[in-house]
Amino acid sequence: MQNPSPIGIFDSGYGGLTVFRSIAGQLPAYDYIYLGDNARSPYGDHAFETIYQYTLECVEWLFSKGCSLVILACNTASAKALRTIQQKDLPSKYPDKRVLGVIRPTAEVIGNFTLTNNVGVMGTRGTVNSESYLLEIKKFFPEIEVHQQACPMWVPLIENNEHLQAGADFFVQEYCNALTAQSAAIDCVLLACTHYPLLLPKLKAVFPTETRILTQGEIVANSLANYLERHPEIESGLSRTGEKAFFTSGDPKAFDEHASIFFGEALKSGVAHI
Ligand code: DGL
Repeated sequence: MQNPSPIGIFDSGYGGLTVFRSIAGQLPAYDYIYLGDNARSPYGDHAFETIYQYTLECVEWLFSKGCSLVILACNTASAKALRTIQQKDLPSKYPDKRVLGVIRPTAEVIGNFTLTNNVGVMGTRGTVNSESYLLEIKKFFPEIEVHQQACPMWVPLIENNEHLQAGADFFVQEYCNALTAQSAAIDCVLLACTHYPLLLPKLKAVFPTETRILTQGEIVANSLANYLERHPEIESGLSRTGEKAFFTSGDPKAFDEHASIFFGEALKSGVAHI
């Protein structure tokens, strides 16, 4: 890339690839760098301070690669680290850089997907305990009742490619039952973790057919397209050669093999280790 100014996409591991897939599909002209912190994933059960430190390190690494705009394609990082990065780190150290998350764009549109005004939110312990979705959805749709369910076993199952095995059924059923037990009125279930779309085949079999199971890829891609339209000062600085580069803090060979399941196609450019 000549003078690269790619868009950075970050997740604790593979999950952000489900969002990156939609972003790259909708905005193919830009350059992108994806970073998965697989060596330290999952983030979901870590303390606030740890998630913040890990996320900031990864964001700063993406900045060092020329990214002026970074998307946290991870609900846990968006819930636990985004606000501090936006309010403390960017103004003092990187006033020209921008970091966006996935929670606000989702909260802004969730009212379009429920008729009963009862939404289920399934996420990591970190996301659920942060109560970010309760707070953000209230701002845009005060009439919506949000029912949360933490699903701590799902990311480990998915990261280890065990999620579609029969052994995963127990944990899929357990968390879905716990959510539906909270209210019979839930008609929309938000998969508030970017790993969870990989469980869609199993989740569709568990929830009633009329329940809307909402994933975030398209929502975040639409929101980014809209953001770039509203911020020409950021958009004009982005490089456009359509290149995608993939980095992991884990094993690049394993990442390369596993990532295509999340991304929907083989990673043509290969994967590098950081
Ligand atoms: N994809 C991350 C999310 O959206 C998974 C978090 C984790 O590593 O536990 O929350």
